[in-house]
Parts: sequence; C-alpha cells; structure tokens
Amino acid sequence: MGYISFYRKWRPQDFGEIIGQEYNVRTIKNAISNNRLSHCYIFCGPRGTGKTSTARILAKALNCIKGATPDPCNKCENCISISDGYSMDVVEIDAASNRGINEIRELREKVKYLPNILRKKVYIIDEVHMLTTEAFNALLKVLEEPPEHVLFIMATTEPNKVIPTIMSRCQRFDFFPIPMDKIKERLQKIARSEKITISDSALNLISKYADGSLRDADGILEQLAAFGEDKIEVRDVISLLGVTDLDMLFEFTDILIEKNLTGGLLLVNKITGSNQNLKVFVSEFLDHLYDLYVIKNYNNPFEIVNISEDYKDKYLGQAKKMQKEEIEFYMELFTDLLKQIKWGEGSKVFFKSAVVRAINFIVLDEKEIGKKTRLMETQIESLRKEIDKINSMQEGNKNYHNHRADVGTSVYENEEDDFDIINSNEINKMVSEVEVQSKHTVSGGKAHKSEMADAGVEKKDEEISLINNNLDKISQSLKKKKISVHAMFTEAVPYKIENGTLYFYLDKEKEWHKDHLNKIKNIELISSVIKEVTGKDFKIKFELGKKMDKIDVISDAESEASSKSTGESRAEDAENKASNSSNSKDGSSEKSRTEEDVFNYFEKKFDIKE
Ligand SMILES: Nc1ncnc2c1ncn2[C@@H]1O[C@H](COP(=O)(O)OP(=O)(O)O)[C@@H](O)[C@H]1O
Ligand SMILES: [Mg+2]
Ligand SMILES: [Zn+2]
Repeated sequence: MGYISFYRKWRPQDFGEIIGQEYNVRTIKNAISNNRLSHCYIFCGPRGTGKTSTARILAKALNCIKGATPDPCNKCENCISISDGYSMDVVEIDAASNRGINEIRELREKVKYLPNILRKKVYIIDEVHMLTTEAFNALLKVLEEPPEHVLFIMATTEPNKVIPTIMSRCQRFDFFPIPMDKIKERLQKIARSEKITISDSALNLISKYADGSLRDADGILEQLAAFGEDKIEVRDVISLLGVTDLDMLFEFTDILIEKNLTGGLLLVNKITGSNQNLKVFVSEFLDHLYDLYVIKNYNNPFEIVNISEDYKDKYLGQAKKMQKEEIEFYMELFTDLLKQIKWGEGSKVFFKSAVVRAINFIVLDEKEIGKKTRLMETQIESLRKEIDKINSMQEGNKNYHNHRADVGTSVYENEEDDFDIINSNEINKMVSEVEVQSKHTVSGGKAHKSEMADAGVEKKDEEISLINNNLDKISQSLKKKKISVHAMFTEAVPYKIENGTLYFYLDKEKEWHKDHLNKIKNIELISSVIKEVTGKDFKIKFELGKKMDKIDVISDAESEASSKSTGESRAEDAENKASNSSNSKDGSSEKSRTEEDVFNYFEKKFDIKE
C-alpha cells in the first residue's frame, strides 16, 4: 500500500473515535438504535471537526452487514466499500468544486432508483451552501418527497448561507472546534504510533495553531515528521508555520506588565532580527490579549477561549496582574499597528514605537486617582493653614514686611507674576511636611471653626456672601460717585450682618478712615450703592478690627472664589487710588492674593484638574 496521508489514515472509523462531538454522536447513535432516523441531516461547523467522518460512519451504520447498528463492524464488504470510498451507493458531492449543477441534476434522475448493493443510498453533499440557485431548487424538489431508500447528509462550514427552505427540511447538528487539549492528546497518540519524537511545547504550539481543526493538526504533524528523523522542537513549528512561540507572547506580556523597557527593546530586537513575521506576531499577540481579556472579565472564561490545561495558570496569572483598561489600551494600540504593518523596514519602526508606547502606558484606576486627589486635598488644606499662620505671624513679626519694604516696594504691588511672598523653599518644606501635618490639620480645622463661632461670625450667611460676591461692583460704582470714599472703602472688609446692620471691618490703625466713612453722608452714599447693586437695604457701620489677622468673613468656601477676585480687583483699585491715601493694603487682599498664587503654583506643579 502506498503512502496514506495522516488525515486519511487516522480518519475515525467508528463513532467511538470521533473526538469532541459527544452530543452529536450520542444523538445519532440513539436514533439508529431506535430506528428513528431522519431522511435528511445537516452537519454545520468549521473544517476539520469531523463532519465528513461522521457522515461516513453513519453510512456504514445503516449499511453494515450486521444490519443497522450504532457500531458498524468495519470488516464487512459494505463497511469497507464505504470506508475506502468505492461504494456506488454512497455518493459524495462537493458543492464547492463546481457548484454542483451536474451532480444535482444527476442526483435528481438517479435518486428514485433503489441502491445497487447497500440497503440505503447515502448522498453526502459537502459545502452545501455553495450550490447554485438552480442546484438548490433541484435539491429542494428532491427533499420535498425523499424516497424511503435514501439518506441525505449535508455539511457546511457556513450554515447562515444555506437557504432556510433547505435548512427547515433537515435535522441540524452543530460540530464544534476541538479543544486544544484534545487536539494535543490526539497528536500524542499519532506521534507515538508513527514513532515521531516531538517536544511537549512543540505539541502545544501545533494544538494552538490548529485552532480547533483536527485536520489541520494532523496535517502539521505530518509535515513536521516529513522533515527528518530528529526530535521536533518548537523552533521547527515556528519555522514551518511562521507562527509565534506561545512563551514569547507570555514573555512580551510580562514585559508590558512590568513596564520593563530594556526587556521590551531586547525583545523587539529579537523579533525584528529573526525571520518571525511581524504581522503574525502582532495578530497572535492580539489573540493573546483577547484571551486575557476574556479570562479577566468572565466568570467561566474557559468556555469561551480555547486554552490548554498546561497554560491555564499562566493565563490566569497574567490576567490577574493586568487591568481591564490596560488590556483594552493594548488591544487598540496593536490593532492600529496591525493595520500599519506591511512588508519592509517601515513596519519595524511602527512596531518599535508601539512597543515603547505600550510599555509606558499607565492606568490610573479610580482608587489611585482617589488616593491622589485625597492627598492633594490634604496638601491644599495644609497649605491653607500655613498661609493663615503666616498671616497671623505678620502682625507680630513686622520683619516680614520690613524685608519687603527694604526692597523698596510694597508687598503687593509686584505680585502679579509670582508668589514669592512665601518663597519656594518654604513651599517645598510645606509639601514635605504635608503628610505629618494632615492629622494636625484636621483637629486644627475644628478648633478654628469654634473660634469663629465664638466671634459671632456668620460663616454661611447668604447676605454676607451676597455682599462679598458684589464687592467689585459696589467698589466700582462708589469710585464713580466719590473717589475719596471709594479709596477708604477699599480698606474695609464686610464682616457681619446683625439686625439689618452690615458691619465693615477696618484695620485698627485706620481710625481716621473709620470716622470718615461713618459720616452720615458717606454712610448714605455707600448704602445707596449697595442697594443699587444688591437690591438690599442695609444700615452700614464701619468698625475697627480687633484681630485683623482673622478675616474669616470671607473664608466661607462658597465665597472663596469671589473673595479671590475681590482681592484682585480691590488691589487694582487701590493702585488707582488717590495719592493721599495710605499705601498699605487691607488684609483681605493680601490674604487672598497670596493664597491664590500658592494654589496656582500647586495646581501647575501637581497638574490638579478641577
Ligand atoms: N472529531 C474528530 N475526531 C477525530 N478526528 C477528526 C475529527 N474531526 C476531524 N478529524 C480528523 O480530521 C480529518 C478530517 O476530518 P473531517 O471529518 O473530514 O472533517 P470535516 O468534514 O469537518 O472538515 C479526519 O480524517 C480526522 O483525521
Ligand atoms: Mg468534510
Ligand atoms: Zn460492517
């Protein structure tokens, strides 16, 4: 006997040898035993999953000399003629080869005749979806009234292309891709019997590459065996198929997980330097990512992905170490890369840059973002306290101002562009101390609040907010009406509202300002301006501050923004002030400008987004 290729030699000869399609086999065997066979079957499923093999076994089962049996003998003339393909009563039609026109015409003519030798005529129509419309129609006619002595078995890899009128006349069986482990097991069996030595990892790679098709697996093993006597290794599989070593895919994924740039660059060299096809590598890496994604996100992932037992732990381990977003990012990145890869050097550059991008990708998950935000909040809170402290120090420690005065300029007048009222060393120190201080800040914050309550500050007072929010407008309007009043007014800070009286605060050195502002004419003017701007009637009173360092009236978080802007425009106003007015500024301007500058600095430094 001449050389018989593996897939023929190893074609299953009875139902027991069909791998993987247990449900189909059981159902068909039962139907035979109970004599409840249909006239027409359709076997749907990818190539190399056992459709033709099952059809032939079924033909034997009906025609074995023993009589219809789920276990044909494979020894009788009937069985052998079917196995060897010379029985006149078992007709195989390949609709893919010439779209079946002549065959179906012939079938129509001959179907009415009884079988020559066998009990049942069996027509096996492969790739039935490829039939022409005429052939389909002819077939349909036959199927409408199939003769008793005929059995039709159709097979298709694309059931969705089979017209429904045919489909509905057949009993359908679905053939599924063969699991990797079963493929490997079968290859081991063939290798043993054919005396082929092959490494385990080479078997794994073939099983994976066969992608559910036993026909392909058989074919690959056969080709490798034809190379020579030596043991078959992974590299042989790689060079035969141009595929990627599974372990290389794991290695590459590890490199991404570990953000190992050096390792990544070495691997890139290894891949681009070998005869590994880049396109194949990338597309197999995408498959790998997909498997990891499924494993990461589904409860029973191994029902979806076809993975060998040997590798399950490895896959699970990698999936665990990766974040969903990370895998999604890589999938997107490498899908784009796959579109860019063509032949030639250019592709290597794309490949390298994609690898570098992948390695540098960082996922900030919600937890991390939350952590970061909380840290920033603590830092800001702590800075706020520091600034308060510094402000309160100013009163007792005039050196601070003096230092600025030495430079020959007011503290504020050149503050447009920087915040060096607190120098950057101090800020750095603050930041490094932030964590230590965060505890202190919490309790400190409480103390601060109660102090304010004692002082009778109506922190959440809406009306105070209203005044604060409109302070700019009030000030502008006043400026137009009476510049001297306006100049003094800019020194004052809205403090509290009590029994319809709006109290303004002035630094305790500003006695003269206070008296002047409190003159009835001026009070009336200011009050009318406030009414004009806010629509509210207030009695107005200016008082000297007891503690100008505690300007908590505008520390209300809601009015924080307005207090900042107020501070700014009020400082501006002050610049336009009449020359006879004092060149010192009110505390609120100082505080808010400083604070704002520091915030801005930190916003930039830590890239805080609102
Ligand atoms: N389920 C299976 N069990 C055992 N061998 C199979 C199976 N499916 C395919 N094979 C192998 O692949 C070859 C081709 O199988 P075949 O039945 O023609 O597949 P299909 O018709 O689905 O493409 C067989 O000769 C056999 O070697
Ligand atoms: Mg087939
Ligand atoms: Zn037999």
